[in-house]
Amino acid sequence: MLKKKLIIFSGAGMSAESGLKTFRDNDGLWENYKVEEVATPEAWERDPKMVLEFYNQRRKQVFDAEPNKAHKIIAELEEDFDVEVITQNIDNLHEKAGSSKVLHLHGELLKSRSTAYPFKTYPMDTPELNWGDTCELGAQLRPHVVWFGEEVPNLGIAQKICEEADILVIIGTSLNVYPAANLVFYAPEKAQKFLIDPANVLVRDLKNLKIIQKKAEEGMEELKQTLLSHPV
Ligand code: OAD
Repeated sequence: MLKKKLIIFSGAGMSAESGLKTFRDNDGLWENYKVEEVATPEAWERDPKMVLEFYNQRRKQVFDAEPNKAHKIIAELEEDFDVEVITQNIDNLHEKAGSSKVLHLHGELLKSRSTAYPFKTYPMDTPELNWGDTCELGAQLRPHVVWFGEEVPNLGIAQKICEEADILVIIGTSLNVYPAANLVFYAPEKAQKFLIDPANVLVRDLKNLKIIQKKAEEGMEELKQTLLSHPV
C-alpha cells in the first residue's frame, strides 16, 4: 500500500532537548550575539575570524550532541509513512537519528564551502574551520550555511515537497524567519497539520491545524500515538 506523505518542518526547538540553544528564546543565541556581526555576508567581509569562531563553537556543540527522542520518533515513523524532513537547523541530528530524507534549508554546519566555487562543499570531520583553510584551488573556505541576506537555494525543492503533503508537522520553530516560514502555506488545504511547540506560536490562516503545545519529545510522542491509533 502507498504510504502517506508526512512532512516534518523543524526549527531550533527540535534540538533544544539535545542541549542545543534556540535563537529567540530567553538566553537564545541571538540574545548573546548580534545577528549582523556573525551571520551576514557583511560580517564575513568585516571580520571573518569572528564569524568562523562563532560557527566553530556551534560545531563543537553539535559534534557532542545526540538526537533526542523526538528526532528518533520521526525516524521511526518511516516504517508507516513516507517521511520527508525539511529543517531550518544546521545540525545533523535528524540524520544521526536515522531519518533518510532530510533537506536543509539553512545549510549544514558539518560542511565547509569554497568562497570562490560555491558548488564545492566538503564534509568536516573536525570542529574547527580556520582563516587560511582553503579548497584545493586555494580559495578560503567558509561555513556551508545560509546567512541573512543570502538566497535559500533549497527553497524551491522544499516548496514542491510541501505541496505533496498528506500530513504536515511544524515543530520547534517560531516561524519568524522568511522565506522559510512561508513554506507551511504550500501544503494542500486538505492536508492535516500539527504544530508542536511549548510557546504560543502565531500562525494565521492555516486550515486543518491541531496545536500540541508541548516540547518536542512529549509532543512527538503524543503525535505518534494519534497518527498510529487514528490514521489521518
Ligand atoms: P527560534 O529560536 O526562532 O524558535 C525556536 C522555537 O522553538 C520557539 O518557538 C520555541 O518556543 C521553541 N522551543 C523551545 N524549546 C523547545 C522544545 N524543547 N521543544 C520544542 N520547541 C521548543 O528558531 P527557528 O524558528 O528555528 O536562521 O529560527 C529560524 C531561523 O532563525 C534559524 O534557522 C536561523 C535563525 O536565525 C539562520 O541562521 C539563517
